[in-house]
Amino acid sequence: MDDSSERKTMILKEDLCIVRQTEIAPRIFELVLKGEMVQDMQAGQFLHLKVPDPSKLLRRPISISEIDKEHKEATLVYRVERAGTEILSKLREGQTIDTMGPQGNGFDLSVVGSGQTVLLIGGGIGVPPLVETAKQLHEKGVKVVSVIGFANKDAVILEEKLSKYGPVVVTTDDGSYGRKGYVSEVIEEMDWVPDAIYSCGAPGMLAYVDQRFADHPHAYLSLESRMACGMGACYACVVPLKGKGQDQNRRVCEDGPVFATGSVQL
Ligand SMILES: Cc1cc2nc3c(=O)[nH]c(=O)nc-3n(C[C@H](O)[C@H](O)[C@H](O)COP(=O)(O)OP(=O)(O)OC[C@H]3O[C@@H](n4cnc5c(N)ncnc54)[C@H](O)[C@@H]3O)c2cc1C
Ligand code: FES
Repeated sequence: MDDSSERKTMILKEDLCIVRQTEIAPRIFELVLKGEMVQDMQAGQFLHLKVPDPSKLLRRPISISEIDKEHKEATLVYRVERAGTEILSKLREGQTIDTMGPQGNGFDLSVVGSGQTVLLIGGGIGVPPLVETAKQLHEKGVKVVSVIGFANKDAVILEEKLSKYGPVVVTTDDGSYGRKGYVSEVIEEMDWVPDAIYSCGAPGMLAYVDQRFADHPHAYLSLESRMACGMGACYACVVPLKGKGQDQNRRVCEDGPVFATGSVQL
């Protein structure tokens, strides 16, 4: 992204203190952390958490969902997948987590202003970074419309939080909550063009957004990829640039995780 160097912050290492940890849906946890690092966080960045187990050498990247600079608190929302996130989910209030961050380039919110309208598109466990994004856009007078999709009713998260900042349409694949179907079906019916689009979710959903808004000047995708160092040194996380040779790529941890539509191969 053009002005990424301006928005990038220094990566810090700190033991963040757990304020609380709550299971908000089956196997999905909300983790509130406190520390000085919060002062440097931006919407769309992520934290790299060390799992407190000597056999887990690699840190786990988790997006920042909410930032409360006044109380130096950041909220993460993550799903327990395998052993690392399972161990994280057992940590309790008062314990600390060895954390590196804030990492990556977040969403560029400077491209829209008061009175303009943005579309947030989220899928499943990709919805968390959209909450802080919605909050900050709302604070600057931008109208926020969210379309978020989940597998089923049990997996629906963060609808209430996003609703504080504007209308939210929820879809579920099986129709057990909200509208049955995919977020793409809702977006195809829209008769207006958003001034900016911010999205995070499963690869299939991001591929749709990438193609649907390929020519939009302010449409962004937040990507996931397997990471090792998480700070630009090892190239474990690269994605190829669209239309370039195999040697032309970008690191998701350092150059992303947010990329403009039409820029990388999904
Ligand atoms: C930039 C970024 C932001 C993310 N934000 C969130 C979030 O907000 N909430 C959430 O639930 N998940 C998020 N993820 C996915 C999360 O990192 C993985 O689910 C988690 O690392 C799995 O760890 P595990 O030990 O349970 O699984 P394991 O499969 O045992 O992990 C083994 C290794 O693979 C890596 N890995 C496994 N799955 C993924 C994945 N999907 N993406 C990247 N690395 C993976 C792990 O970090 C670890 O190094 C994010 C991933 C990235 C890259
Ligand atoms: S994880 Fe090492 S460069 Fe991205």
